[in-house]
Amino acid sequence: MISTLQSRMLRGADGDAAPRLAYGADYNPEQWPRDVWEEDVRLMQEAGVTVVSVGIFSWARIQPGPDTWDFGWLDEVMDLLHAGGIGVDLATATASPPPWLTTAHPEILPVTANGETLWPGARQHWRPTSPVFREHALRLVREIAGRYKDHPALVAWHVSNELGCHNVYDYSDDAARAFRLWLRARYGTLDALNHAWGTAFWSQRYSDWEQILPPRLAASHPNPTQQLDFKRFSSDALKDHLVAEREILREITPGVPVTTNFMVMGGTKGMNYPDWAGEIDFVSNDHYVHPGPQDRDELSFSANLVSGIASGRPWFLMEHSTSAVNWQSVNVAKRPGDLARDSLLHVAHGADAVCFFQWRQSAAGAEKYHSAMVPHAGADSDLFRAVADLGAKLKALAPVAGSEREAAAVGILYDWESWWASEQDSHPTSLLDYRQEALDWYSALLALGVRADLVTTGADLSRHQVLVAPVLHMVPAGLAKDLTRYAEQGGHLVITYFSGVVDENDHVWLGGYPGALRDLLGIRIEEFGPLLAGESVELDDSTRGTLWTDRITVADGATDVLAHYRSGVHAGRPAVTRRSTGDGSASYVSTRLGVDGLRSLLPRLLEPAGVSSELPSQARGSVELTVRRGPEGRFLFLVNRTDETVRVPGFDGEVLLGARDAEGSLVLGPREVVVLRRPAV
Ligand code: GAL
Repeated sequence: MISTLQSRMLRGADGDAAPRLAYGADYNPEQWPRDVWEEDVRLMQEAGVTVVSVGIFSWARIQPGPDTWDFGWLDEVMDLLHAGGIGVDLATATASPPPWLTTAHPEILPVTANGETLWPGARQHWRPTSPVFREHALRLVREIAGRYKDHPALVAWHVSNELGCHNVYDYSDDAARAFRLWLRARYGTLDALNHAWGTAFWSQRYSDWEQILPPRLAASHPNPTQQLDFKRFSSDALKDHLVAEREILREITPGVPVTTNFMVMGGTKGMNYPDWAGEIDFVSNDHYVHPGPQDRDELSFSANLVSGIASGRPWFLMEHSTSAVNWQSVNVAKRPGDLARDSLLHVAHGADAVCFFQWRQSAAGAEKYHSAMVPHAGADSDLFRAVADLGAKLKALAPVAGSEREAAAVGILYDWESWWASEQDSHPTSLLDYRQEALDWYSALLALGVRADLVTTGADLSRHQVLVAPVLHMVPAGLAKDLTRYAEQGGHLVITYFSGVVDENDHVWLGGYPGALRDLLGIRIEEFGPLLAGESVELDDSTRGTLWTDRITVADGATDVLAHYRSGVHAGRPAVTRRSTGDGSASYVSTRLGVDGLRSLLPRLLEPAGVSSELPSQARGSVELTVRRGPEGRFLFLVNRTDETVRVPGFDGEVLLGARDAEGSLVLGPREVVVLRRPAV
């Protein structure tokens, strides 16, 4: 369902037009002379652009000095865009403080764990906890909101930009003060903090709050719970900034939706987005492809995870690239077809907007080699033609706007706190990669043609017949109860290595691993057996494990062993187990099997739930299927994951995008996306 607030983005500011998928980019007119602006609007119309994000890095231009304001140029840009029928997602412009501010107040600059100041000259050089920065930023927000509150082009507010992209961890004195306040609120007393942090260890007991510091560069591993709390605190500090800006925007324009662009992609893990999502009116995300063997699986995984963060509701793709970026070691151009396929894959996973960084490729600055909708070559280019073609495709998909994700049989639980906790230092291995393990399960399911939803902790687990929880390291008592109830009530739970080991304070559950889930799984592990880089062990189902093994004892005959280790120190012992419980089951996979191994194991894990692919056999692995559902119908997206043409028989429905052959099979050209509409039932 489209909320009233979202509909403003989809219908445009006048609210009359039918909802449709939004299309656009970051627009930085201040980088160009005035005469380019009119051409910009004309080309935007040609490309089918409906919305642009303006002013993201305009602070220095809008406020050239402490008490001088220059809104004339922005007034003109807003008017031009409105006259061209283009809505504006207006930035609060606080992402990059101007030189006059950092010169007058160097105490707003972030400081690293080593005590080095991050100087101005790039962007996002501010401390989330600086009262001085906050005051100046909020003053700017108030000025901008007051000026444009009634402007007809305004469709949404864009708070800052990618909060935490460069400044998530700040170890300054401001951060130390704010960290102490945060800890007082969390623990109440020093005794409680000393207990939670386990400060009996290494003579770390605190007798005064003022003694507590952020985990700055230390002689050895800083206290693990201190590190974990600093991660929690740092995410909260940025969220606090988001909320502070949002409060002003809501006060001045209660009817205009507020968003901020998340960065669910690659290794970005500092911001606990599931915890932030409730603070904004709609979720937005930025995503950039990192070329590699799983690159498009990763894109699908990230988009799917954003949908989970948005609780299945539509979200906005606020940035991605038309072609190459400028910040990888080698910046590869996209191949023909990638631009549309990458964009539509986000739509397949719930995006109601497709936007790029940026509209016109910069001629100067650090991002001049970053692609855009209008490249250096100009509008007479294959790239711009592909951009306009995508605009037409998105128009054809108008009925999809506002539809939600239809729950898949399989859920994959993505738990931010376990991500943080499992990868901390001083652990059995430093090679563990939480996101990669989750991505491998997702890739294996894609290879089998089985639809899966990434879900975050707190979601309704009962929607999924099978729930995979990779490396669910941190399991507080409440979560252990929820998982037990899930399995007893008929769910089939799959847990992997290094799960259920610690509570919310990062204290080990004693009595044998995985303490929090030992009874549910019907196993007991006395010792972990991490493997060296390059080392692997064989299982008797012919899969191979890397990274990790466990010395498992099964509790009793009610725990089945699905696979044993065939080699390594645990040869002959269980490697994969399953225990029936209530109407469901709980399985444990004690090693890292990788995509191929999981692909071979998964059918046995899915079988008790009766889950298999919804695709015909010839399309499994080559086609990704997603389903969105709304008042206008059920929408099936079939995405060709390969560079070959794939035919999919037996899929009825109205073709909104794509084609059928004479026999009625859907024809998916290389990297093509087909969209079907079926009646909503
Ligand atoms: C994002 C950022 C944009 C632009 C883009 C380049 O992180 O929000 O402003 O820098 O990356 O890929």
